[in-house]
Amino acid sequence: MKKLEEYVRCIPDFPEEGVMFRDVTSVLQDADGLHLAIDTMQELIDDLEFDVVVGPESRGFIFGTPIAYNNHKPFVLIRKKGKLPCETASMEYDLEYGTAVIEIHKDAIRPGQKILIVDDLIATGGTTEAMIRLVEQLGGEVVGVVVLMELAGLKGREKLAGYRLESAICFE
Ligand code: PRP
Ligand code: HPA
Repeated sequence: MKKLEEYVRCIPDFPEEGVMFRDVTSVLQDADGLHLAIDTMQELIDDLEFDVVVGPESRGFIFGTPIAYNNHKPFVLIRKKGKLPCETASMEYDLEYGTAVIEIHKDAIRPGQKILIVDDLIATGGTTEAMIRLVEQLGGEVVGVVVLMELAGLKGREKLAGYRLESAICFE
């Protein structure tokens, strides 16, 4: 049986020279890869108690929804600015070049709810940090973050000191 990391295709020099891109599509395109990815992420959070799963556009939706479904919990979308139709809370965060804004519906989380954040990947940690701030702004308590892939060299984990971060695959 193939190991989970063997399903991840690595593309040198994408999107720019010097970057080794870890491609999630090769995991998803393989039925065994998709099963193994979701099952491994599930095992990492089996002991966690949470009320709501939150995940960001767009690759976070792919992994967040099956984890929510598995655990019979609701799934809340974090979207890029201007996409959500009802009243939103917003958070700006830094990208490699410039900034971006993510949003969540204000009524999606009630104060005191325990929140699990799910995404495909943590790189610099900027997106995850912004999601945590957004959830906490609404009174939610982030009890854990689970991702398929962690790019350890980009030190995202350091931005999340004090929070539980689980990754199914850790690339150095
Ligand atoms: C990617 C990825 C994570 C984030 C990780 O999303 O899916 O959400 O970047 O990077 P960071 O740890 O440096 O913040 P992206 O914003 O590219 O959106 P996409 O899923 O729509 O491609
Ligand atoms: N793969 C996918 N998304 C990414 C990566 C990567 O290697 N680095 C930053 N975002």
